[in-house]
Amino acid sequence: MDHFLNPRNVGSVDGPTGMAENEDCGDVATISLRVDGEQIVEARFQTTGCSGAIACCSAVTELLTGSALQVASELTAEDVIDYLDGLPTDKRGCAKMAAMAGLKAVRDALGAGD
Ligand code: FES
Repeated sequence: MDHFLNPRNVGSVDGPTGMAENEDCGDVATISLRVDGEQIVEARFQTTGCSGAIACCSAVTELLTGSALQVASELTAEDVIDYLDGLPTDKRGCAKMAAMAGLKAVRDALGAGD
């Protein structure tokens, strides 16, 4: 709830970017990164999604910030749900969307594209 009411890292930075869609509802999320060497130093998000999507994207930016790219490339929706201390079952697709947007941004940073 705190990550919905006080989302962290809203916006975008000029850097590697990933976008993902929640196929259940058509909402999208975009995560963009600022990278220094092998480390993510800033992560920001934008989403058209629901309260769950906002909370999940906020969590993804916090999970990614300060991470090494190789470590960040292992991010899963479960990591996001754990970080938020759980999520209603009907919001799992929102967590998957947020994690996938983060992963795509990391892959972009690694030069691996989509
Ligand atoms: Fe569409 Fe959560 S992102 S319902």
